[in-house]
Amino acid sequence: MSVLSGKKIILGISGGIAAYKTASFVRLLIKAGAQVQVIMSPASCAFITPLTLATLSKRPVYTQFEKDFGEWTNHVELGLWADLMIMAPATANTLAKMANGLCDNLLLATYLSAKCPVFFAPAMDLDMFAHPSTKENIRKLKSYGNIEIESAYGELASGLIGQGRMAEPEDMLQTITDFFNNESTLYLKAKKVVITAGPTYEPIDPVRFIGNHSTGKMGFDIANEAAKRGADVVLITGPTSLTTTNDSIKVVKVLSAKEMYQACHEVFSSADIVIGAAAVADYRPKVVADQKIKKNDEEFTIVLEKNPDILASLGAIKTNQFLVGFALETENEIEYAKSKLKKKNLDLIVLNSLNDKGAGFGKPTNKVTFIDKDFTIFPQELKSKEAVAKDIIDQIVKSYVE
Ligand code: CTP
Repeated sequence: MSVLSGKKIILGISGGIAAYKTASFVRLLIKAGAQVQVIMSPASCAFITPLTLATLSKRPVYTQFEKDFGEWTNHVELGLWADLMIMAPATANTLAKMANGLCDNLLLATYLSAKCPVFFAPAMDLDMFAHPSTKENIRKLKSYGNIEIESAYGELASGLIGQGRMAEPEDMLQTITDFFNNESTLYLKAKKVVITAGPTYEPIDPVRFIGNHSTGKMGFDIANEAAKRGADVVLITGPTSLTTTNDSIKVVKVLSAKEMYQACHEVFSSADIVIGAAAVADYRPKVVADQKIKKNDEEFTIVLEKNPDILASLGAIKTNQFLVGFALETENEIEYAKSKLKKKNLDLIVLNSLNDKGAGFGKPTNKVTFIDKDFTIFPQELKSKEAVAKDIIDQIVKSYVE
């Protein structure tokens, strides 16, 4: 039996040519045993008829507040009825209205009233999809906890080729089937997760710095994974060539440990979870020369002073935030990691041992051990950094959310 059996699903259709694909989508949902309530924006009725969808869904289709025979269609009740709402196709216009709380039709009013998870499947021409305002609207919707079913790259109704094709009905069915199967893993929905990543550069003079080999990959993978689980992610990163795969992630670029410290403290009060994956320089040059230093002397000494420990400073002022740190150790790994967990007032520490083959800077894999607040130890297998990021988020969900 499908996990969709008996699930109550609102399918919200807005006015784009991809609306024709919803006929087969409704058939797939009904075949899987779901109860489907179709709500159409007035514009969508020009692309597919309510009669077609009412026949396939075996229910009346709603299009307006006041139906033809004068009865009020209650959007609040509809919003409460559903286990899941899916806006497909979600046109640029409907996305913009959803992102800004407009409700000039029954579909949008139902969206605003919905208490259930909301998915949206953008569908539009490539230039509309690429426009910064559309990107911003999608980012906003994701920050509200709505889940995007990404549009595909391919031939569009205009004849142009690019991104903007609505996901195929089979793929949308798979996405929501996976969602119901993994419902418990989406617990980061609407949680604010702050992640530090990458190295820091500590200036010596206008052209030189002290840095390290961190690529930022672990932190970026964690950010992508957290965003996938519905979190509102702020990624504070030192210099790196990496980019995020998820447009909803807010990226704050910093250079030095001092800047990273400030950026973290600016967002800390509104954060639910902070994950310190950055390789923060422990020391910085005490004096930064205004001009480029000339090579006049045979020897040259740079006096270093300590940088603030960012995680420890957050641990000292935390209220409800869940703090996660990393430890990179070469000996007495577990003991050192435990003492860091305690000293910095963390809730979870991710231990990397340099003795493990395949772990560390610049490698695509990592082998970690989790230690929680009660000093329970969870050793993990050697995995890709993406898979480790998934395990880290799973562990946080277990320790924090459940
Ligand atoms: N960290 C931090 N600010 C610093 C240094 C480290 O927030 N100035 C964070 C890192 O992001 C990491 C954790 O603290 O999550 C562990 O850092 P690590 O350098 O391994 O430990 P230290 O506490 O600096 O101790 P030591 O270098 O002596 O091992």
